[in-house]
This record gives sequence, structure tokens and C-alpha cells, in this order.
Amino acid sequence: MKKAVYSDRELMELAIEARKYAYAPYSGELVGAALLSEDGEVFKGCNIENAAYSPSNCAERTAVFKAVSSGVRSFSAIAVAGGRGGSVSGMYPPCGVCRQVLREFCPDPSKFRIILGKPDDLRIFTLEELLPESFGPENLE
Ligand code: THU
Repeated sequence: MKKAVYSDRELMELAIEARKYAYAPYSGELVGAALLSEDGEVFKGCNIENAAYSPSNCAERTAVFKAVSSGVRSFSAIAVAGGRGGSVSGMYPPCGVCRQVLREFCPDPSKFRIILGKPDDLRIFTLEELLPESFGPENLE
């Protein structure tokens, strides 16, 4: 889905919408993410758990992998919403693995925004703040 501008609140509402498809029979945590590309496209993702536990995938990585496998690699923001059943908890910060996966496609982590909280009470961070002194592709050059 694509339109000229998405507000932070709209992105959070899309992240909440994405929770609808969460497959989380083991933890019961329903997580959704809405990833905004630099050209204004939104990729939604949910968490997908597995009976063997470790193959489980977080909502954020589902969204990143959907985008990258569709040919999109430049991003400006992600909203994340999670919680049990119908309720969305106050803040659902991305796990360390997801922060690192986001970093791969964010050459300047101070410019990528992470939108947390509830639509009426958003908290905005940068990837730089949540993953300081990060390791990225340029460290292998
Ligand atoms: N989870 C996410 O989808 N995103 C996060 O950043 C944190 C955790 C999922 C993984 C697992 O399915 C459930 O939430 C409980 O950890």
C-alpha cells in the first residue's frame, strides 16, 4: 500500500491492523509492524511462531523480509504494536535481532524512526538511539 504521506499515528494504526494475522499459539503475544519505505510504501508484518520455537519470526522482520523480497531496500520508519489478545500494551520495543536486521538497510541509523506506544500516546525513537554504535555493512568494507 502506498500514498503520499503517512502520519506516525496512521502507521501505528496499520501496525495494530497487522496483528490480526499474528500466528502466536505458544506465547499468545500478537505483534504487528508497519514498515514505511522511503518512497511511501507500507509493508505490514506479523509474528509467526513455530512448534520448534527457534524458527519463530518477529513482526518487524516479517515486514522487512516482505519489503526486501519485493525489491524495496530503503526505509524511513517502522511502527510496532504488540500485546496479548485484543489489547495493545503501552510500548512494544523491537528485539535486538530485529534492530540488527533493520540496521542492515539503514545506512544512517539516526534518520530511521521507530514508532512505539499507542496511537494516542506515541513514543518516537531513532534506530541510532535503540542500537548505538551499531555494526553495519560499511564495517565489512
Ligand atoms: N516479538 C515480535 O514479533 N517482535 C519483537 O520485537 C519482540 C517479540 C514476538 C516474538 C514472539 O512470537 C512473541 O513476540 C513473544 O516473544
